[in-house]
Amino acid sequence: MANTEFPAIETSRLLLRPVEPGDAPAIYAYQSDAEIYRYMNTEPPASADAVAETIRQWLELRAEDRPPPWVIIFKETGRVAGRIGLDHLNREHSAGWLDYQLARELWGRGIATEAVRAVLGYGFGTLGLNRIGAYCWDGNAASQRVMEKAGMQYEGTLRQIRFAKGAYRDLRYYSMLAEEWRAGNA
Ligand SMILES: CC(C)(COP(=O)(O)OP(=O)(O)OC[C@H]1O[C@@H](n2cnc3c(N)ncnc32)[C@H](O)[C@@H]1OP(=O)(O)O)[C@@H](O)C(=O)NCCC(=O)NCCS
Repeated sequence: MANTEFPAIETSRLLLRPVEPGDAPAIYAYQSDAEIYRYMNTEPPASADAVAETIRQWLELRAEDRPPPWVIIFKETGRVAGRIGLDHLNREHSAGWLDYQLARELWGRGIATEAVRAVLGYGFGTLGLNRIGAYCWDGNAASQRVMEKAGMQYEGTLRQIRFAKGAYRDLRYYSMLAEEWRAGNA
């Protein structure tokens, strides 16, 4: 399984393509909304330069089974409106982890779910993974719902596993197995 170069993936409303250095201003534009980071450990990036540095690190990590994420392009506008990653790819266990975020102006239209389904399809169908996991902070109802709608199973909650933004946070874990993906896509 798994090389570290992802191809572009097209869905009915979206183009997912690997992030490029030139995406920094567009990513910063949506990430500078603090609401995006409400249920995340980190704060919004300080500047487009900070995003450019993150992209540079992603691109350099390519060789370590942490492929750079895709940007989510909403075809209707042609704009970069989010990102989705499939990383921590583990060859021995054929497993990987998903994470995603979307510009607030597009929330509630099923876009993240469409992107997650596409990446699950790529992970199981093309990379041959056996398991794809994801997690969110307890309370991140939108992210929970995305994982459920995409067909991922709730596995359990790790209580107060993380100290972030002044409090201990519970993390809810989800996953899908290849056999479940195949059953849903037969
Ligand atoms: C999580 C996120 C990607 C969802 O994107 P999205 O495109 O709006 O997601 P979808 O439209 O596919 O699905 C969202 C679902 O959550 C539901 N939802 C949203 N807010 C909710 C809330 N406060 N309570 C209950 N359900 C909620 C929506 O109604 C929808 O479900 P439905 O289709 O059954 O009505 C987006 O909110 C985001 O970027 N959040 C900030 C970053 C983040 O938290 N990323 C995940 C880190 S684990």
